[in-house]
Amino acid sequence: MSYDLVVIGTGPGGYVAAIRASQLGLKTAVVEKRKTHGGTCLNVGCIPSKALLFASEKFEEAGHSFADFGITVSKPEIDVAKLQAFKQDGIDGNVKGIDFLFKKNKIDVFHGTGRIAAAGKVEVTAEDGSTQTVEAKNILIATGSDVAKLPGIEIDEKVVVSSTGALALDKVPAKLVVVGAGVIGLELGSVWRRLGAEVTVVEFLDRIIPGNDGEVAKQFQRILTKQGVVFKLGTKVTGIENTGSGAKVTVEPVAGGASEVIEADVVLVATGRVPYTAGLGLQEIGVALDQRGRIVVDDHYRTNVPGVLAIGDVIAGPMLAHKAEEEGVAAVEILAGKAGHVNYGVIPAVIYTTPEVASVGRTEEELKEAGVAYNIGKFPFTANSRAKVNHQSEGFVKVLADAATDRVLGVHIIGPEAGELIHEAVVLLEFGGSAEDLARTTHAHPTRSEAVKEAALAVDKRAIHI
Ligand code: FAD
Ligand code: NAI
Repeated sequence: MSYDLVVIGTGPGGYVAAIRASQLGLKTAVVEKRKTHGGTCLNVGCIPSKALLFASEKFEEAGHSFADFGITVSKPEIDVAKLQAFKQDGIDGNVKGIDFLFKKNKIDVFHGTGRIAAAGKVEVTAEDGSTQTVEAKNILIATGSDVAKLPGIEIDEKVVVSSTGALALDKVPAKLVVVGAGVIGLELGSVWRRLGAEVTVVEFLDRIIPGNDGEVAKQFQRILTKQGVVFKLGTKVTGIENTGSGAKVTVEPVAGGASEVIEADVVLVATGRVPYTAGLGLQEIGVALDQRGRIVVDDHYRTNVPGVLAIGDVIAGPMLAHKAEEEGVAAVEILAGKAGHVNYGVIPAVIYTTPEVASVGRTEEELKEAGVAYNIGKFPFTANSRAKVNHQSEGFVKVLADAATDRVLGVHIIGPEAGELIHEAVVLLEFGGSAEDLARTTHAHPTRSEAVKEAALAVDKRAIHI
């Protein structure tokens, strides 16, 4: 068996790369050790978390907001087994979709763990221990990432859980402690809070969602606090005692001071993810890693070993499914002699809570640090008719534009459907557009998108509705 390209790992990076390679006429195979394709994102990440966020949001709406609309329903109850079945159904449907796409694109599938025996040779070990070797002109590593473990803290996925366990709980914990106020902690903390858990988030830094615009983060923290999430910022976990039926979490202020013990039924450890390269044989063939264990690649996604490429969570950059996909496409387009490219300055990021948080481009903090002069246009959803009439008026849109050229450098949104609204800003940034371009573009009324236009108008201090 000999291929132009063998892709190891069928997460969003790997499976999309394989499809694009096949479209470009490369004879392609994939190797996947999980039973199902789709990687972290589809099996234990993006998709299941969004199913739980969707359903738990409906639960909360039925319990709280419906009455405001004059709709009377009896107090909603949650059947966690059914909720989990709903989640699994969504995963299964998407997994079938990838199976179909592999067949349609004539991509050969090898089930098992891939190891690069030498450049051009991937050894695949199946679950039963049998091995076979697949030959490839090029090998693309797309093996993704794994949960970052906290030293001395054991994850049993029952009481002390990673995101994987937190997505699969069979009942609502009365008390959930979340370690890490990043994306996973706040999305999954939101799910279980909506369903009835008391949620305490312990964060090492003195702010939540580091890396995001500071003003957005502050507003986000205020809103989540109003929803009932308790934050302990500037606090470190010094130990977790798993009692079998629950846990005692010992925390203390980072700045020093008395420690305290927080009781929990479940503790979610969400302190980041690390690249996954175990068992690939990288050391043996001499593939270079950086200090954080990520595979080092050049701007054509080539490692230092000829014929071995890498993309997605296993290399540097934001650990996002769409970033992995774009890299997969670019890497194989370049292989096929085309001009593949990823614009790293224009990768949107979304947190799928209520309200959603979405951003693209640079934050105010980054612009200040780089010494770039900028103008700010801000528009609150309280002044947007559609958001207001639907009682979804928390949050704002913030547009940051270059003071000299008016080119938009960053857009940050906290508000209803921010994850959808951000994409006009993504296109604008991709085309190097100005705030004036956005401000002069007709937006349908009444839409939440009008808040984006108004924020662009506000850059030139001429917003209409504030
Ligand atoms: P992965 O999706 O991790 O896929 C790697 C695949 O390689 C896996 O299937 C693995 O089994 C396989 N593999 C590994 N080693 C081998 C081997 N030696 N042989 C064969 N197969 C191997 N990102 C977003 O953009 N939006 C979101 O909403 C979002 N939500 C998330 C929620 C959670 C709870 C988590 C944990 C992550 C979330 N992410 C989200 C991040 C997203 O899942 C990752 O960025 C994305 O999956 C990375 O894609 P990838 O293809 O690089 O790797
Ligand atoms: P993260 O990097 O977003 O957040 C981790 C948080 O934990 C940070 O705030 C960090 O300061 C804190 N932290 C680290 N060590 C700590 C400690 N010892 N004690 C207390 N706090 C500590 O990582 P997270 O949430 O685990 O997510 C991992 C990756 O998955 C992210 O890179 C993200 O991009 C991706 N993801 C994306 C989603 C999306 O796009 N909607 C959803 C979920 C995950």
